[in-house]
Amino acid sequence: MPPRARIPEKSDVTDPLPFPAEGPTATTVAEEPAPAAPAEARLGPTGRPMPELPDPRPVTEHGPARVISMCNQKGGVGKTTTTINLGAALAEFGRKVLLVDFDPQGSLSVGLGLNPHEMELTVYNLLLERDVRIDDVVVPSGVPGMDLLPSNIDLSAAEVQLVHEVAREQTLQRVLAPAIEHYDVILIDCQPSLGLLTVNALTASDGVIVPLECEYFALRGVALLKNTIDKVQERLNPKLEIDGVLGTMYDGRTLHGREVLERLVQAWGDKVFHTVIRRTVKFSDSTVAGEPITSYASGSSGAEAYRQLAKEVALRCLDA
Ligand SMILES: Nc1ncnc2c1ncn2[C@@H]1O[C@H](COP(=O)(O)OP(=O)(O)OP(=O)(O)O)[C@@H](O)[C@H]1O
Ligand SMILES: [Mg+2]
Repeated sequence: MPPRARIPEKSDVTDPLPFPAEGPTATTVAEEPAPAAPAEARLGPTGRPMPELPDPRPVTEHGPARVISMCNQKGGVGKTTTTINLGAALAEFGRKVLLVDFDPQGSLSVGLGLNPHEMELTVYNLLLERDVRIDDVVVPSGVPGMDLLPSNIDLSAAEVQLVHEVAREQTLQRVLAPAIEHYDVILIDCQPSLGLLTVNALTASDGVIVPLECEYFALRGVALLKNTIDKVQERLNPKLEIDGVLGTMYDGRTLHGREVLERLVQAWGDKVFHTVIRRTVKFSDSTVAGEPITSYASGSSGAEAYRQLAKEVALRCLDA
């Protein structure tokens, strides 16, 4: 009679699953440390492994600032929301932040509770009047450690008037220069166009962050934006870098949102931030309240997302 096949014992079997088996044997491993989560669980929404993001390095002295423009000629992609909330999150981490409202719509100023009709001096005056200094225009933003250069509709005239100026593309760079040593970060909220104001912002910047809405048409126009950034880099500002591409208004429940993120990573590689900003009404609510989400709904996932972005920005381009 042939010997009976030996029934394999558990120790002989390599479990293909990373989880402990269900059933009676599970109790035998209950005292052991929990197994590592499967690799997919540690992937971020962009489909890449989520890195550890340390808190930004504490600073005792301020400046010189890195100047970063939020830029995308497509409207409503989260430029202003990112400027306010990234700024506020960096200020929470002890960085001294200046926000520049460089959009005649003035949404950044309104989003921080300012009344567009009650502004004495704005970025417009700073750009076009020689006797106006930056200190005359800067106002507190309501967030400790964060100041604001406000704007309103007056700025729309600047685009036309600047055309006649000498070194018209360098005007913003020139007027911001005295502030560089006082701040750690200067964030410029651009208008949704690639006109002279945006070229001024890019010329004044060390880096650009491109917010992109996670929806189907998000990638349309991105080639044109890249082309503008490249031209400014070649002709006006050799130090200009793309600091990152940020997926905004992401809805993880839809396949569509995930596909857009996948395509972003294919197109921009490591430039895409691991942090992704999800869609939530808390952002519009906080705009109505005139404050950043980090103070309006401090414990919300939206506030946490911008704190995470602040860590990523610090790691990538402030503390590097
Ligand atoms: N993650 C988000 N989830 C839901 N709503 C958002 C999110 N981010 C921004 N919003 C809302 O979407 C609208 C457009 O956002 P925002 O003003 O930041 O875009 P923008 O790119 O600055 O627009 P514009 O090009 O007009 O300047 C606002 O009402 C804002 O409150
Ligand atoms: Mg805006």
